[in-house]
Amino acid sequence: MPSRSAAPSDAPPGPADSRHPVPTVNGVLGYGMTVPSLDTADGFLGTFGLRRGGHGDTLGFRCDGAAFDQVSLVEAPHKRIACLAFGVDPGRLGDFARHLERSGVRLLDPPAAFAGPGLWFRDPEGVWVNLREGAPDPGRPMPDTSLNTGARHARVDRAAWAETPDAARPHRLGHVLLYVRDLGAAERFYGGVLGFRLSDRTGDILSFWHARPGDHHTLGFVRGGHVGLHHSSWEVSGLDALMIGTRDMAAAGHPGWGLGRHGLGSNLFTYVPDPWGSWIEYFTDIDQITDAWQPRDIDCPTAMWGPPMPEAFIVNSESDEPLAL
Ligand SMILES: [Fe+2]
Repeated sequence: MPSRSAAPSDAPPGPADSRHPVPTVNGVLGYGMTVPSLDTADGFLGTFGLRRGGHGDTLGFRCDGAAFDQVSLVEAPHKRIACLAFGVDPGRLGDFARHLERSGVRLLDPPAAFAGPGLWFRDPEGVWVNLREGAPDPGRPMPDTSLNTGARHARVDRAAWAETPDAARPHRLGHVLLYVRDLGAAERFYGGVLGFRLSDRTGDILSFWHARPGDHHTLGFVRGGHVGLHHSSWEVSGLDALMIGTRDMAAAGHPGWGLGRHGLGSNLFTYVPDPWGSWIEYFTDIDQITDAWQPRDIDCPTAMWGPPMPEAFIVNSESDEPLAL
């Protein structure tokens, strides 16, 4: 597992102008997709543990208690990642508009299907990007799921079985991983234009990014021929909830991959294939990082342990037809 510092050339170039520091988004608010059947999506995401939100032209889903939809779906012939929404601190949209102009990014009218407030433009792969005032939903408070491990007995005079949740019910959207045709272009855009910071990378294959201290990664890219959603990932309250969700998805006809512990990010995971070839992840126990974190370029296993990885996990099955919205 050779490790080296992420080479300076890997650093995303932004407009290197000290008079105009690069503003930064504060995280991922959600994503939008087209799917062939909203009814199928409703059943799948409902079983996964998300709650139905807004329902106009789009079908929305969110974690219990979230203030806004974190997934927006529109029916279309093919499954396609359509848009990503990022939060901007209050009062900073104007700074971003000027920064985007200096960066040569053209602001556009929003696509009718996903129209909403804020700034809209496209990334190098053609995915719509929406910047709007707000921040990622922090998730409702999680119960204390302390484990008695090793010499540390954090749960005393409490029976774990009596506190076992009855369903997964994700607390928050953790991260989104996209296949991209041009990894370098994606990195220059999301790093140099939106202000994401590199967390870790594996050569020219994949890279993980964060916007603020917290989870090891909230956004990631993997080279994949053309753009596509690899997976979205949702935090649950602990290992019990993770395995209960996995059990319930399998019982509903959606067996997954896991349990395992990832390499980069270290989260415990199980993945479930969605009805259209992407994946959706339950996670818990992801590495937390601060501004002191130093990114590495490291050939780290996808999973430190767990069942063999399904071949389909690294196949981009998303249609590469142009996104028509
Ligand atoms: Fe993930």
